This record gives sequence, C-alpha cells and structure tokens, in this order.
Amino acid sequence: MKISLETACQLLISGSVVGIPTETVYGLAASLNHSEAIQRIFALKGRPSNNPLIIHVSNTSQVLPYAQALPKNFMQLAESFWPGPLTIVIPISPEMIPTAARAQLTTAAFRIPSHPLARELLQITGPLVMPSANLSGRPSATCREHVEADFGSDFPVLDGGPCQKGVESTILYYLVEQERWQIIRQGALPAEAFEPILHYIPEIHAPSKEQAPLCPGQLYRHYAPKARLKLMETFDPNGRGVMIGFTDKSYPSSYKMLFLGPLANPEKVAENLYAILRQLDQEGIEEAIVDMNFPSDGLWMTIRERLKKAAS
Ligand code: TXA
Ligand code: MG
Repeated sequence: MKISLETACQLLISGSVVGIPTETVYGLAASLNHSEAIQRIFALKGRPSNNPLIIHVSNTSQVLPYAQALPKNFMQLAESFWPGPLTIVIPISPEMIPTAARAQLTTAAFRIPSHPLARELLQITGPLVMPSANLSGRPSATCREHVEADFGSDFPVLDGGPCQKGVESTILYYLVEQERWQIIRQGALPAEAFEPILHYIPEIHAPSKEQAPLCPGQLYRHYAPKARLKLMETFDPNGRGVMIGFTDKSYPSSYKMLFLGPLANPEKVAENLYAILRQLDQEGIEEAIVDMNFPSDGLWMTIRERLKKAAS
C-alpha cells in the first residue's frame, strides 16, 4: 500500500515497520529506538536471529557515537562513497545498539543510502535498521510491487520507483591484524572502485568451515526464486524451455527468452536481475536456463555471485 513520506515518518517514529526505497534494493525499515519493531522485522522476514541488520543514517557524524574505534581509512571511504551503495562494518560500543539489531555482535554495519526519499526520511526519523524487503531467502525487492508480493498489498510502502542499482550494497570489513579491508559481501560497488582510496583492491572474503563467518548473512540461502535455475555456458541449439539471456546476443528460436539487458551494460543487467528472477515465479515457470557466458570482472562478479546463490 502506497504511503506518503509524512505517514512513513509517523509510522517509523511510533514503532511500526515500513517498506522504504533505496538506490540498491527496497528496505524493511524500523527505528533503531524501537526494539519491538526490530524484533518484528525478523518475524516478518523469517530471518534467523543471528543475522544482524545494517544501520542506515543520514550523515557520517551519526555513526560516531556508536563507534568504539574507527578503522584506518574509514573517513576517506565514507567521504568518497557515502551517500551510496557501500556498507562499512566497524567495532561498536555494544550497549548503544539493541542486541537484536546487531545479533549480539560487538560490531555493526552502517550505510548512508543515496535515494532522495530515503535521505529525506532519515533526516526526520534518525537511524533506521533496514534489511532488504523480501522474505528471507527470496530475491530482494527492487520496486514497491515486489515488497507487496512478499508482505501483502496492505503492507505500508513508501514508493520511490524502481531501484537504480538493483543489487545490494557492497560490505567492507576491516581485518585488524592484516590492517586491510576485505569485501564480505559483493555488491553494487565492484572491488576495483576502492583502489583509488585504499591503494589496493580489497580481497573478496571466502567463508571457510573452520572460521566463524565474517558476514553471517552469507551462510544462508539467498536471492532464490522457486524456479530451478540451470547455470550454463553452452546450450543445445535445438533445446526448449525458458532461457535467461542478454539482448545483444542471439539465441536459438526454440527457447522462450527472458532478457536481463545488454552484455554491453552490466549496470542495466544488475538493475533487472531480481525482477527477472521474480518474474519466473509470477509466471509459474518451474525451470530456467541462465546464460552464464558473460565477463568476470567489475559488476559482473556480483551478478555471477547472485545467480550462483539463486541457483543453489
Ligand atoms: O543495499 C543494502 O545493503 C540493503 C539496503 C536496504 O540498504 N540492505 C541489505 O540488508 O542488503 P540485508 O539485511 O539484506 O543484508 C545485510 C547483510 C547481511 O548479510 C548481514 O549478515 C550483514 O549485512 N551484516 C550486518 N551487520 C554485520 C556485522 N556487524 N558484521 C558482518 N556482517 C554484518
Ligand atoms: Mg537481504
């Protein structure tokens, strides 16, 4: 259900949960001051309680009261990429943040979104926790209709149009011993984007069985439609069924095609990704082939990672 900016602010300030647009994906927002609303987010999404939430703020100075220490280059990263699709994990004073929001950790993730409505809202409400506005495990929501498909047509959503990035923020985590930042979730900003600030390209953290995960969310099934996805680099020229591919490539006419966008424009592909995955379920499609024959650099790495998770 569409609501105005004023209503969204009132609902959040009085302890309700509301769908909010950001430039990456829609978020399911609650005020950091309302522990019950934060618990409700976990219940609504069916989210495991050990998966912490990102705290969204409207300016960098709002992060400082929570911070226990600011890792090297934090300020430069914030100045260069906020507002925008970067989330930064820092050590915090745990008593400052409700236990449920941080899943008992002594670190917390922060982000300043750049969507104009989200920024306007955050200036009025103060810090908001916001996971992606989807049922846990399902593809994220990139328009109001997706949020309503998961939480019902009466669920209050501030409609900010389709999300411009279409995939979640990139999450950076500082490894104290190595004195280096690592990417613990790939996202809308590719690893190379950080080189001018850090003078190195941060590594992408690979979770191992021996070590507790740096990003708890990476443990769970994610981004998955009900449909089975078959990731393929070559396909039968006489094959049938649904194929997810690219507009600037030719495919055998025996396939029913769903297009992510042009290979020449990975930003467009990322923007459309979750809408296409959701379309499979809307149309009752049980299986789809995905053309994985695309580059492996920049934003394509995030697209590849999302498709692999969606298929697993
Ligand atoms: O683009 C985004 O980041 C969107 C929009 C709404 O801002 N939000 C989003 O939230 O993707 P969510 O909850 O779907 O994903 C947050 C991820 C989870 O994988 C969680 O485990 C991780 O952030 N996270 C949160 N706090 C953390 C912490 N202290 N340490 C490590 N990972 C953390
Ligand atoms: Mg999510």
